[in-house]
Amino acid sequence: MINKIENLLEEISSYKVNSLQELESFRLKFLSKKGHITELFEEFRGISADLKREVGQKLNELKQKAQDRYNSLKLELETRDDSAGENDLTRPAFPYPSGSRHPISLVRREIIDIFSRIGFTVSEGPEIEDDNHVFTKLNFAPEHPARDMQDTFYIFRNSAEDSDPDDILLRTHTSSVQVRVMENQKPPIRTISPGRVFRNEAISARAHCIFHQIEGLYIDENVSFADLKQTLLFFARELYGKETQIRLRPSYFPFTEPSAEMDVSCAICGGKGCNVCKYTGWLEVLGCGMVHPNVLEACGIDSKKYTGFAFGMGIERAAMLKYQVNDLRLYFENDLRFLDQFKTAF
Ligand code: DAH
Repeated sequence: MINKIENLLEEISSYKVNSLQELESFRLKFLSKKGHITELFEEFRGISADLKREVGQKLNELKQKAQDRYNSLKLELETRDDSAGENDLTRPAFPYPSGSRHPISLVRREIIDIFSRIGFTVSEGPEIEDDNHVFTKLNFAPEHPARDMQDTFYIFRNSAEDSDPDDILLRTHTSSVQVRVMENQKPPIRTISPGRVFRNEAISARAHCIFHQIEGLYIDENVSFADLKQTLLFFARELYGKETQIRLRPSYFPFTEPSAEMDVSCAICGGKGCNVCKYTGWLEVLGCGMVHPNVLEACGIDSKKYTGFAFGMGIERAAMLKYQVNDLRLYFENDLRFLDQFKTAF
């Protein structure tokens, strides 16, 4: 009986098929109820007890090998390139799983789209920056806490105690791109700058050391705070819905004067109060203001002739509100169960 099994093993391992019919013959010959292997199992019942162990093992091996061979022949047939021979045009196509865009990309594209409709171009700057573009030219006082080691990832520092315009660091905000644009272009300037930013923060549901921002800048003659407000209202209604209300609260940034923070009415409860807006009816979404004359002058723009506004917002925050994601870390974990949910959002 061992001999028979060995012979079958050999036959199976060199068996070739060229069509589904031949594959079916293989199955009938070896694996079906009337096939060789079933036959052998029947024969096996009658063999002497001292042989049972050895033959039993061999027989199980044969059965497994036959099944494996069947599976691999089937796969071979299914995936074989038929282009050289006859094509079966009625054969269903293989499923082609499509991916999805990352929610951060979706929201970034949407924001870029909204601003490009009102004449804003897109500009980008380096992630590895110098102190001059991230802080000094944006009117940060030398001792400003945002320059501190606790917030900023430094790559090179001239001095351990004092900051220096030549220090090299990872940008902490996309406002640095404002500076680069103003250094290189003459007004009128109307641009938005999406990008990655870095801060030395402990990672939690609400904070991450890497995140994304979009910066906006508009410089021309006679640009006023009313222009800023109207632009932001347009933006908020495009992104969060036609019914959205905005409110501007006075704030402080070194590079704008006056400065404000913008809240939008909570789209989830319609402003009535819910746990997302912490029962205030409002959600904070961005910082903004009129570009400080010191910043214009530092970038070579005549502050007597030109005025402008700027704003900056976190993309994760905008995406959190839009898709009601309550943990920032989800954006960075690449868990397909999370990402797959954005398949239909385009
Ligand atoms: N750069 C600020 C931040 O990272 C955001 C910001 C506020 C940008 C006001 C601006 C602005 O352009 O005018 O928190």
